[in-house]
Amino acid sequence: MLSAEDNETLTRVGPGTPMGALLRRYWLPACLSDEVAEPDGPPARVRLLGEDLVAFRDTEGRIGLVEEQCPHRGASLFYGRNEEGGLRCTYHGWKFDVTGQCTDQRSELKPFCEKIQITSYPVHESGGIVWTYMGPEEARTPFRDFGTESLPADQASVVRETVYCNWVQSMDGDVDTAHISNLHQFDAIDDVPDDGSDQPGYPSNYMSMRFWRHDPRSLIEVDDTWYGFRYAGLRTTPNGHQHARISAWTFPGATIIAAIPFNTRLIVVVPVDDVTTYRYNLTTQPPANPRGLGGPPFFTYEKYPFTMPKIGTSGTRDMPRNYTRANDYGMDRVAQKGTSYSGIPDFRSQDNMATETAGPVYDRTREHLGSTDVAVIRMHRLLLRAAKALREAGTEPPAVRGDFRSIRGAEKILEPGEDWRVLGTDDDPVVKEALAARPRP
Ligand code: FES
Ligand SMILES: [Fe+2]
Repeated sequence: MLSAEDNETLTRVGPGTPMGALLRRYWLPACLSDEVAEPDGPPARVRLLGEDLVAFRDTEGRIGLVEEQCPHRGASLFYGRNEEGGLRCTYHGWKFDVTGQCTDQRSELKPFCEKIQITSYPVHESGGIVWTYMGPEEARTPFRDFGTESLPADQASVVRETVYCNWVQSMDGDVDTAHISNLHQFDAIDDVPDDGSDQPGYPSNYMSMRFWRHDPRSLIEVDDTWYGFRYAGLRTTPNGHQHARISAWTFPGATIIAAIPFNTRLIVVVPVDDVTTYRYNLTTQPPANPRGLGGPPFFTYEKYPFTMPKIGTSGTRDMPRNYTRANDYGMDRVAQKGTSYSGIPDFRSQDNMATETAGPVYDRTREHLGSTDVAVIRMHRLLLRAAKALREAGTEPPAVRGDFRSIRGAEKILEPGEDWRVLGTDDDPVVKEALAARPRP
């Protein structure tokens, strides 16, 4: 449970709010590179942290991210003409370059361009995403490289999903491994053959799903790190071994979910505004798994199609939302009594039902937290502490610098006495093997 005041601090992200100020100290995804693919091509609308912006690629290929409203009399620059090194408002023809400087006022008898400057945020393209930094210039830190800086262009892949609730709510589901034993259950798991991988080591993805089902009372252990925390969901397998799913959470909203044997695919949650959220799901590093284990970054099961577009090398796109609150997330009450625990057809719709129906901004004075919520609690505490320290003492936020390429999720059936904290780190033999096979640039 949080106080009403802490819940407000945690969830509100507009200009002038403590959490808004914290988020503005990090490089955040603004839009997909694909949305502004062409020099002098159509601009893209961007709404980020409650601010309305326009992105455009100028004649030279530079990207501008500027406030949407024309400073003359307020018309939207989204409808502007992108031409000859700038974006021109079509109301009276004022024109702005990528830095936000006014460069032409074709309707004015006595132009005063040099006096007109609109808000413009620095951008950096990486991994198929246009990232931006919206904080004070003097506090700007280098772009945080999770591996996308050296990712070959043909291996960059991003899927963006829009979720209609507060950003923290959406992220809560990412650090909550307990729910997979309930929300994501369906009967076809019973058909998964025992392939013998219920032994210390790396199980198949399908066996892993059996373990979720077998033990719904996961023990959650959280380990603080320089970037945030890692946590393990520990379950007992049918043969009595301990199965660990380890996910990593990085300030202010990036999660790498558990996968076999380890994972570097990143989910970045970013607030469009207080009640709308983007989830960018992106490749950060070349696949470097010498054992060919683990399968897809987030699994599909042939008898239970996962409607997320196939994640691969086929470029960037928005994820379709076939199931929303408007159609009760595709709820099938017959399936709910039979083959599917939730009655909702696919994983992401199940997650969206759970997080969106708590309301646009969930009132955490009403929650009752238990033993499986410790990672969620840790995340809220870390965010609140950092936002308050920044506001009250100007303390530099955590994890604005570091080697973000070394952060990984992991999953394994533990050897007796094995410490899950090593799994997925640079000290994990499987990671060492992968790095030896494909050294980091
Ligand atoms: S409102 Fe944009 S030029 Fe007049
Ligand atoms: Fe989920």
